[in-house]
Amino acid sequence: MKTIAIAGATGAVGRQMLECLKEQKIEGNVKLLASARSAGKEIDGHIVEELTEDSFQGVDYVLGACENDVTKKWMPWAQKAGCVVIDNSSAFRLDPDVPLVVPEINAQDIAKHNGIIANPNCSTIIALMALHDLDDLYDIESVICTTFQAVSGAGVKGIGDLERELKDEKAKPEAFAYQIAFNVIPQIGGFDENGITSEEWKMQNEGRKILHSPKLNVNCTCVRVPVWRSHSESITVKCKKPVDLDVWRERLADSKGVVLRDDPANNIYPMPIDTTNQDKVFVGRIRYDQADPEKKTVSLFCCGDQIRKGAASNAVQILACLMEKQ
Ligand SMILES: NC(=O)c1ccc[n+]([C@@H]2O[C@H](COP(=O)([O-])OP(=O)(O)OC[C@H]3O[C@@H](n4cnc5c(N)ncnc54)[C@H](OP(=O)(O)O)[C@@H]3O)[C@@H](O)[C@H]2O)c1
Repeated sequence: MKTIAIAGATGAVGRQMLECLKEQKIEGNVKLLASARSAGKEIDGHIVEELTEDSFQGVDYVLGACENDVTKKWMPWAQKAGCVVIDNSSAFRLDPDVPLVVPEINAQDIAKHNGIIANPNCSTIIALMALHDLDDLYDIESVICTTFQAVSGAGVKGIGDLERELKDEKAKPEAFAYQIAFNVIPQIGGFDENGITSEEWKMQNEGRKILHSPKLNVNCTCVRVPVWRSHSESITVKCKKPVDLDVWRERLADSKGVVLRDDPANNIYPMPIDTTNQDKVFVGRIRYDQADPEKKTVSLFCCGDQIRKGAASNAVQILACLMEKQ
């Protein structure tokens, strides 16, 4: 029986990983790791241990769900112990030796790992689940995307801000720069000299790696919204070839992990309230850009649970692929 450790087991993603292991029927001994603050806590019959240098002895796989700085600190210990790590932070995503994987899109890249596999950014996973069929059919040239990102994307602190502000609008925010209740904040991550945030760069840089499209251009605006869970994205895509919307819709209807919700006459379209706490990405509002007579430019709206498909369940799917190959 293999041993699977979850590093960051008390956080939003780590807790979901434990659920996903059960749902995806992954068999193994489970070890929960977090900071010293959480040592001794019980989660679903498991006692949380403090993450230390010795935590990874006898562990086969690590599901990483910590911030970058913490991940960079424990990673060498896991490597020394010979574990295979599937990590959710952005610490290793662009490392050329680390596969960056969405199993429905590039499962074949898993085999190239050298002990670390990275899980992509949550908005990137959700966008690419909606877009990879379009790329297969008509070659995507460029993407313009606006995200509407839930507070739980900032972990337990983000949820805490909205909870406190709903009781008292004057409560001091801890996760966000401003009040998020009854507001939207057009900043996720720090700005660079061009006025682009670190979160906004991820969709282009990670999208290029996952789709094996080194010239893909993405112009992204990331916005935090007062939604508990599930990110939404409004996306306009320019393809290299003219798009047949019916052909694309048919592909989406058959696409693994995608639900087509595209019936505007009956007010059917994706909404985050419907994608919460399940693994599928909903896609709809599919239409041509009327300004492009060549019909190469299309728009869509998509939603997905960023703690599940955007993080935990994608990581556990990667683990399932690895364990099948053993
Ligand atoms: N939330 C999302 O929707 C989402 C989506 C995709 C990717 N991610 C990424 O996934 C990672 C986890 O995100 P999250 O939202 O789950 O964060 P979170 O809710 O803040 O959880 C962070 C986890 O890290 C642990 N931790 C903090 N300091 C530690 C230390 N010194 N040693 C060991 N463990 C420590 C925490 O343990 P304590 O409880 O003991 O402090 C907690 O279990 C991040 O890299 C994030 O960017 C998040």
